[in-house]
Amino acid sequence: MTTGNDQKATLSYGDQKIELPVVVGTEDEHAIDISKLRLESGLITLDPGYGSTGSCSSSITFIDGEKGILRYRGYPIEQLAKKSTFLEVAWLLIHGELPKADQLADFTSKVTHHTMLHEDFGRFFNALPKSAHPMPVCAAAIAALATFYQEPETDQKVEETIIRLIAKMPTIAAYSYKHSLGQPNMYPSNNLDYSSNFLHMMFGTPCDDYEVNPVVAKALDMLLILHADHEQNCSTSTVRMVGSSRANLFASISSGISALWGSLHGGANQKVIEMLEAIAQEHGSADKFLQRAKDRDDTTRLMGFGHRVYKNHDPRATILKGACGDVINSLGGSSQLLEIAMRLEEIALNDDYFIERNLYPNVDFYSGVIYQAIGFPVNMFTVIFAMGRLPGWMAQWREMRADPAFRIGRPRQVYTGATERAYE
Ligand code: CMC
Repeated sequence: MTTGNDQKATLSYGDQKIELPVVVGTEDEHAIDISKLRLESGLITLDPGYGSTGSCSSSITFIDGEKGILRYRGYPIEQLAKKSTFLEVAWLLIHGELPKADQLADFTSKVTHHTMLHEDFGRFFNALPKSAHPMPVCAAAIAALATFYQEPETDQKVEETIIRLIAKMPTIAAYSYKHSLGQPNMYPSNNLDYSSNFLHMMFGTPCDDYEVNPVVAKALDMLLILHADHEQNCSTSTVRMVGSSRANLFASISSGISALWGSLHGGANQKVIEMLEAIAQEHGSADKFLQRAKDRDDTTRLMGFGHRVYKNHDPRATILKGACGDVINSLGGSSQLLEIAMRLEEIALNDDYFIERNLYPNVDFYSGVIYQAIGFPVNMFTVIFAMGRLPGWMAQWREMRADPAFRIGRPRQVYTGATERAYE
């Protein structure tokens, strides 16, 4: 990031003229630095939903929404999805560079050997209703981990917490599923890679020899890579905001999971499948649904469509659309929902309403079709999104804490309530 002396923005208001520095990112993004605005002029800015507000500078993820570009630490998402593994990408996001072979081996070994949960943790799951949605279960479980690891948060401890969270998140997710079924938990297996181990804990039982399908494990690993970071989205901003008070990493990640659950964010992947199934029940006719999505008086939206930043295409959706067919073919499952999704996409992309608003399929549009083909229950979809997003959240949290400009997050407001009145 540079601050060019010759680059200033001037804000005129009344008889004030305020000069504001302009900062330029490495991809030539320009931003007006208003951090001293209030101090110098008494003014604040107003930007509901933060569409024009940069909350930080960051060197982790770059998105060009107009061109449909997504890069982690400079590497295009298409290349990482094809050539990398989730643990390698996690390292990249957290440490800034791809790991050398020995670093990756050490990281993988540490993650593999921290997957178990303390046996006392079993009581935590037993306290919750079997019908519990796994997202609040995971959010609560991650927050509860802080009660097992209470040491002061030194840099060394943060490193350990990062390993523990990556290692234990799949175990927590799988245990929440097993609890809902009333089945015994499956212990993690140290012989399996990250994604295979998750599949083993999800679908294995002590009564059979569940064999992980390598095509499925590879597809899951790729899905995790695609979700691993997405700069300052709602949940990541939440993680940064909570962490900015110096709340610990467990608490910050737990709040990120809660933010992700909402249907406009990560929760959309569950809603997409529910929408496709509803359309399938109506014999595949998408027209009625699209009419409702376009009606301003109806709150229905075409789930998995639209994005705050992407105004061309979401590169993750493009990759997933290609992968859907491969997974379904290899599993020999039904492609009915994929066919409905593709038809829906085609109709929407030729419809003026969606064209005028630059609405394209986002990552959630096709991910659910793959999750469902693999056999994940619908309410686990957003949990898998959270598993994928975890390294991104932690990389962003750490970057924030190391930033010399780090301050507690505290936006202002324009007050519109009653002026002073007497209590009588
Ligand atoms: N279906 C129908 N209309 C839509 C949709 C949609 N999916 N998305 C946006 N619009 C319309 C919206 O009604 C508005 O129309 P108008 O200008 O006539 O009032 C216009 O497009 C702009 O929408 P917005 O709500 O101002 O856009 P936003 O940037 O605030 O919201 C969004 C982005 C993702 C929340 C929104 O597109 C949406 O609700 N999509 C469906 C939910 C979804 O798929 N979420 C997953 C996002 S990607 C994964 C992630 O990172 O979480």
